[in-house]
Amino acid sequence: MTATTNPNKALWEKGDFTQIAASMRESGEALVSKLGITDGLQVLDLGCGDGTTAVPAAQLGADVIGVDIASNLVAAGNERAEALSLTNLRFQEGDATDLRELEDESFDLVISIFGAMFAPKPFDVAKEMVRVTKPGGRIVMGNWIPNDPTLVAQILKISSSYSPPPPEGFVSPMTWGVEENVIERFTQAGLPKEQISFERDTYAFNYPGTPSELVAEFRSYYGPTMNAFEAASADGREADLQAELEALFNEQNTNGDGTSIPATFLRVTVKK
Ligand SMILES: C[S@@+](CC[C@H](N)C(=O)[O-])C[C@H]1O[C@@H](n2cnc3c(N)ncnc32)[C@H](O)[C@@H]1O
Repeated sequence: MTATTNPNKALWEKGDFTQIAASMRESGEALVSKLGITDGLQVLDLGCGDGTTAVPAAQLGADVIGVDIASNLVAAGNERAEALSLTNLRFQEGDATDLRELEDESFDLVISIFGAMFAPKPFDVAKEMVRVTKPGGRIVMGNWIPNDPTLVAQILKISSSYSPPPPEGFVSPMTWGVEENVIERFTQAGLPKEQISFERDTYAFNYPGTPSELVAEFRSYYGPTMNAFEAASADGREADLQAELEALFNEQNTNGDGTSIPATFLRVTVKK
């Protein structure tokens, strides 16, 4: 019997997101520093990648479990934790749609920065995040916003315009960037609307090379962009995709010596 492929897992194991995450470290630290993390806080970082937010949370003294669907990112995260001697941080494989390996009400804080938004079945994801949060605990999500003019929303929009249409029933990850959808998902998971709040926040992508070199990183290592280039090349439209992305990155760069590109996201805080 052949194993069936989970397209969600395959997408994120395809490239090497650690190469992109390297440009997001400062913003990850800045965001975590605002979350009121104290010694011994029990933290779950869901869709954690190689630890852009999990590592600084552990450095602030929390006991952190990072869960991610991509086995290569889990391995990279555990290597970072070991290199930094963070014995209060461990990474394990898991799927945000079904966190059966995690007990009910076991975390004070569940963080998911551009993580759980990429899982299918958003109502199941909200239910799982609520289930594993302790009463009185918090969930903090960072979600890209559909049609936002800044970097990542535009990369994903451009990438999808070169990709084949998604299968029927596919729910776009970008729907997590719409407040009404977020409210619907968490209220259906049992929490009152009044306990859900929203803020606009910014992540900066900082890279020592030029904006065009950063496009090359996305082309080589970021699953959604890699897929778009594969589809574009099959249609003979590779050069158009490259040109659109280079124009976007160059227009949005704010650093004359290297690359620094701000991207707006929706920060969601849910109190349980
Ligand atoms: C854009 S990356 C962000 C990673 C990390 N949170 C960061 O800020 O660097 C999206 C992450 O979500 C993970 N992911 C996607 N679908 C998932 C799922 N169903 N369950 C758990 N993790 C998932 C991917 O493997 C990837 O690491």
